[in-house]
Amino acid sequence: MFFKGKQTSLGIDIGTSSIKLVELQKEGEFIHLKNYAEYKPEDDLKDLITFRSSMTPFSETELTSILKNIISASGIESRRANFSIPVFSSFLTLIEMPQMSDEDIARAIEFQANKYIPVPLSEVFLNWVVIRENNNSIQQNSKDKVEVLLVAAPKDIIERYSRLASDVGFELGLLEVENFSLVRSLCSSKNLNLIIDIGARTSSVTIVDNGFIRLSSFLEFSGFHFTKAITERLKVDEARAERLKMENGLLKKPQNQVREAILPLFDKLSFFVESAISIYLGKNPDKEFEKIILTGGSSRIPGILEYFSERFKIPVEKGNPFFKISYPQILKDKIQEIAPNFSIACGLALGDFEV
Ligand SMILES: Nc1ncnc2c1ncn2[C@@H]1O[C@H](COP(=O)(O)OP(=O)(O)OP(=O)(O)O)[C@@H](O)[C@H]1O
Ligand SMILES: [Mg+2]
Repeated sequence: MFFKGKQTSLGIDIGTSSIKLVELQKEGEFIHLKNYAEYKPEDDLKDLITFRSSMTPFSETELTSILKNIISASGIESRRANFSIPVFSSFLTLIEMPQMSDEDIARAIEFQANKYIPVPLSEVFLNWVVIRENNNSIQQNSKDKVEVLLVAAPKDIIERYSRLASDVGFELGLLEVENFSLVRSLCSSKNLNLIIDIGARTSSVTIVDNGFIRLSSFLEFSGFHFTKAITERLKVDEARAERLKMENGLLKKPQNQVREAILPLFDKLSFFVESAISIYLGKNPDKEFEKIILTGGSSRIPGILEYFSERFKIPVEKGNPFFKISYPQILKDKIQEIAPNFSIACGLALGDFEV
């Protein structure tokens, strides 16, 4: 066996409500948690209407200084970092092509991509994953077809991350759309899974089969909007609504007005998930979902497992992004509590250890 010694990696997830960092160390076969950090600005609850036009509520200069501060305060040692691009800033679509060599697929994609990507090709970086029949059994179509997952990310966003990495003094490692990080940290089986990431501003749905992403979409509401619905219904301020959300959430108890306030949003999310499931099963009628995996800070809301389990016939569980990672036993409770927020950062950091 080739012994590589200790290898470290760093994943940085710049979410719309907080920045999460995970630093890992690989020694032989083992992956240890070396460090983690989360930076949450106090303005989480403000209505940041501009968030969609920029990658975060922070300006580039703010981000640079926040990251430098986190690095020095937390003692993170890596000088190379992996970053994720939000699902809402990217475009993923599955297309079908005639069976041909990878070189011909590349040429055909360059030629045809404008049919599938709704923005000028000169403005995006294009990448793709060929879903080959010989390394998976999921292809339902005839042997003369091959499925290709097209991934497009705006050039200006990629350039922003490159600038950020160099301003902070990092070498830019992986830069990937966040559902790839989620699959890496949360999917332990090769079966058909659906991941729901419920964050602060957006909720994303990813269907993954045999390790390949097959469908990705998002909704523009999440934790922030749950809190907002509570402020309106209960006539309380945002700080109190946020507390009430975390205490009562979706719990089925008498007079839980918090549940009543947020139920329409959860029903909308469920409806969205149901449509994704029926689209997928419509195309793959003999398939069966193994499970639905919940993640993101808002998946910590009390009563969520019961809510989704009643809604879907598919088993629902909370994802554990640390399942491949060892950490001191003393951190167990803390890690379990914060795990949902760190799924993307863990997946990014794990990206360096993939064979
Ligand atoms: N215990 C809890 N119960 C309910 N909601 C919670 C809990 N803990 C955190 N949240 C919510 O989780 C959200 C933050 O989650 P997360 O860190 O995944 O978001 P983000 O990655 O910054 O946002 P996005 O992915 O939308 O850009 C906040 O809206 C917060 O209110
Ligand atoms: Mg997020």
